[in-house]
Amino acid sequence: MAMIAHKCKGHTVTVVDINQARIDAWNSEELPIFEPGLDEIVKGCRGKTLFFSTDIDTAIREADIIFMSVNTPTKTYGVGAGRAADLRYIEKCARKIAEVAEDDKIVVEKSTLPVRTAESIKRILESNSKGRKFQVLSNPEFLAEGTAVADLENPDRVLIGGDQTPDGLAAIQKLVDVYAEWVPAENILTTNVWSSELSKLTANAFLAQRISSINAISALCEATGANVDEVAHAIGTDSRIGPKFLKSSVGFGGSCFQKDILNLVYLCDHFGVPEAATYWNGVIEMNDFQKHRFARRVVSTMFNTVSDKKIAVLGFAFKKDTNDTRESAAIYICKDLLDEQANVAIYDPKVPEAQMRRDLGLSESDTSITVCADAYEATKDAHAVLILTEWDEFTALDFKKIHDHMNLPAFLFDGRNLLDLDALRKIGFEASGIGRG
Ligand SMILES: NC(=O)c1ccc[n+]([C@@H]2O[C@H](COP(=O)([O-])OP(=O)(O)OC[C@H]3O[C@@H](n4cnc5c(N)ncnc54)[C@H](O)[C@@H]3O)[C@@H](O)[C@H]2O)c1
Repeated sequence: MAMIAHKCKGHTVTVVDINQARIDAWNSEELPIFEPGLDEIVKGCRGKTLFFSTDIDTAIREADIIFMSVNTPTKTYGVGAGRAADLRYIEKCARKIAEVAEDDKIVVEKSTLPVRTAESIKRILESNSKGRKFQVLSNPEFLAEGTAVADLENPDRVLIGGDQTPDGLAAIQKLVDVYAEWVPAENILTTNVWSSELSKLTANAFLAQRISSINAISALCEATGANVDEVAHAIGTDSRIGPKFLKSSVGFGGSCFQKDILNLVYLCDHFGVPEAATYWNGVIEMNDFQKHRFARRVVSTMFNTVSDKKIAVLGFAFKKDTNDTRESAAIYICKDLLDEQANVAIYDPKVPEAQMRRDLGLSESDTSITVCADAYEATKDAHAVLILTEWDEFTALDFKKIHDHMNLPAFLFDGRNLLDLDALRKIGFEASGIGRG
């Protein structure tokens, strides 16, 4: 929304949320989300074309186009628990629009939703229409956290799905006109609404599948003496495969991949294709395997015990350049190590201590983790260093200094294949990466 406000000077964008603290943060000097370049954009438009408020009713009444961007987590109860998307927030949103709107609206699904959700939203809106006309469009968001601003500035494509009726096509055109302010026409794709909804889940499933595929090979590399980075490079030069998203790691995280694939798995089952459900579920299973396999390898390498040993964890965010920790591999790995009674010292440049403790289910006073102000504090007197997020600053650390204040043998496990292992071994580390036999 900030990018729309930034690029489309004739429009006013009002972001509303039921969460007062979040809106206050968006109106403050310290934004609640860290994304390179976002601060400048928000602060440049705020109070001019971009507003943050909790006055949801007024925002609905005044808007021509309403983007529903609420959370759609994995359902934790009832039918489809653990797989289906929980649509209660989206339904509440639709009911609110139906209750408050006084004239015709274009309602845009910006949240990631199961295919055919637009039908339910349309029914909710129409059964309360009181003569107003609603058009429901699907406009899934393809940005990646960490590079969100660049992705939005220069999207590979914008996808807009809508009814193929005169009113539906007119609504699609209205939204196309918004993006056309900065996105080239050939990058704005329009489809029917179901294709658009399904494309988002499919895109995330394909992206995650590439990571699980290379991670599956990484385990084989470790057993055979091959090097997964070399394999990835070799296959990535094949133009049919391409080089992107072939980086082996401790496993993918983030708020979207797992929940969207689980949702796809549920839909495959629901629509009578259990074979497709099993196929896509394998992507999740491989990711779980990779996270736990890493923690098991740490323990087995360190003489089968990490009990009472200090383990330094560098990086807690699910990827670099974000403070988002949802589904971060670091959470699973830290939990496995805490189960083994390790003392875990964590440093992340952007993730606050309270967030780490919440993610790990630990109280403020629990001493099983220590959250450190920098990598040197975390590694002092440690038995091992784990790199769990690929923050650039970790490549610039003085590893000689780190080695010299660690317990010996000093183990280093690079879960992101970020560092030069040979150089680390020369310093004296017992260093290992992912998929390097
Ligand atoms: N985070 C991403 O990178 C990303 C990328 C693409 C798509 N998406 C999709 O976008 C959606 C939102 O993701 P997110 O990461 O921003 O989630 P989030 O949980 O960070 O934010 C959702 C916000 O919606 C608010 N909300 C809930 N119900 C509301 C209501 N009835 N009225 C007003 N506000 C309400 C919540 O208070 C919360 O602040 C999800 O469907 C997600 O799959 C996210």
